[in-house]
Amino acid sequence: MMFKDQLAAIAPGFSYKNGRLEAGGVDLSEVVNAARGPVYVYSLDAVLENFLDFQRAFADQPTRICYAMKANDCLAILKLLGGAGSGVDVVSGGELALALSAGIPANRIVFSGVGKSDRELAQAVKAGVMQINVETQYELGQLAQIATSLGKEAPIALRVNPDLEAGTLDQISTGRATDKFGVAYEDAPRLYMEAEKTPGLAPKGIAMHIGSQIGNTDFLAAACAKLRSLWESLSASGLKLERFDVGGGLGIRYKNETAPLVQSYADTIKKAVSGLDAEVVLEPGRRIVGPAGVLLSTVISVKESGGRRFVILDAAMNDLIRPALYKAWHEIVPLIDPGSVPWTPADVVGPVCESTDKFADQRPLPPLQPGDQVAFLAAGAYGSVMGSEYNSRPRAAEAVVRDGQWSFTRNPRSYDDIIREQHAPAWL
Ligand SMILES: Cc1ncc(COP(=O)(O)O)c(C=O)c1O
Repeated sequence: MMFKDQLAAIAPGFSYKNGRLEAGGVDLSEVVNAARGPVYVYSLDAVLENFLDFQRAFADQPTRICYAMKANDCLAILKLLGGAGSGVDVVSGGELALALSAGIPANRIVFSGVGKSDRELAQAVKAGVMQINVETQYELGQLAQIATSLGKEAPIALRVNPDLEAGTLDQISTGRATDKFGVAYEDAPRLYMEAEKTPGLAPKGIAMHIGSQIGNTDFLAAACAKLRSLWESLSASGLKLERFDVGGGLGIRYKNETAPLVQSYADTIKKAVSGLDAEVVLEPGRRIVGPAGVLLSTVISVKESGGRRFVILDAAMNDLIRPALYKAWHEIVPLIDPGSVPWTPADVVGPVCESTDKFADQRPLPPLQPGDQVAFLAAGAYGSVMGSEYNSRPRAAEAVVRDGQWSFTRNPRSYDDIIREQHAPAWL
């Protein structure tokens, strides 16, 4: 496939105009030049379009879409999605605080996560979140105590582990009994009955999340069927639930995967819940922001060694860890259209002192010289949020584009920013 066809398939919001890579009417080299280092750029139109895909596909089914902000916590994206009617799925007190500061109403927030501290649970109960997805028997007791001490009742769902495959990478599978997530399927009825009787707890829903980057909706259908039979047996025992939370996980295209259409995902879920008096809760992350973001980087140097061409970038594993962590593939395209030159294999690496700081192995690329700029495609999810300052490298900046305008949403950080945040004790 020609690289421009691949670009159109993977990152529909990005294309070449007059030989330069653009998004939202903005020449991306303008942004990377201003950042003077690696920068993530998100197309707000593309983010919104991806969200609206879900909204449209579920229009005929009571549904609450709770964007999983773990994928990308950019404040501008939270505001955009909140304004379009989205809720959010949060997995920490920090995310909850950020979501509230972005104006997301508490009654559209789901709090997920396998371990929540007392402080985080109290914060969620005080804020009045829509639902806390509880993952252990211990957490039920912890939450009951916190809610009663605050004179409140906590709306909960149990995240049930359906003990099924998700058909995705081992590292991002979460719905097998051997994974750390959720309460065991067979324990769920007893825990629901206990929760129902416990002051401070109000069971409202049933929840699951079987994994990320799911490319086949059959896995979801199987997990939904297990959850539905649990719902039905709870209902037969007199427990009336309101929400059926299927988690997130819908995959995207990074290379040549076939990502299911949102419509067929929706059809699978609607079929699974048909006839139930349930509001569906969705927690999509990657599918909304992944294709809508790129990481821009500049070539520092190039060399030939051991018969290989090396392209050394100013971005590194601290900026985008997915290739090092999961051997993930990100397409790399130049910001200036190279025309019809031959593409030859290159190892694309960053400057961090680790052999795993490698983005691509023997990847066909056009000729690249120091100073040339490139974009990593489909980097909008689990990119910036997983960034660190390893090697004292300032975390990458972030920017958004729309209607010919762009702005930094996370400023380029200086060395002073890094130094200022550390303190040596006076007694040293
Ligand atoms: C509980 C929960 N919900 C939603 C998501 C979002 O998943 P994705 O970004 O694959 O849609 C995750 C991510 O793993 C998660 O852990």
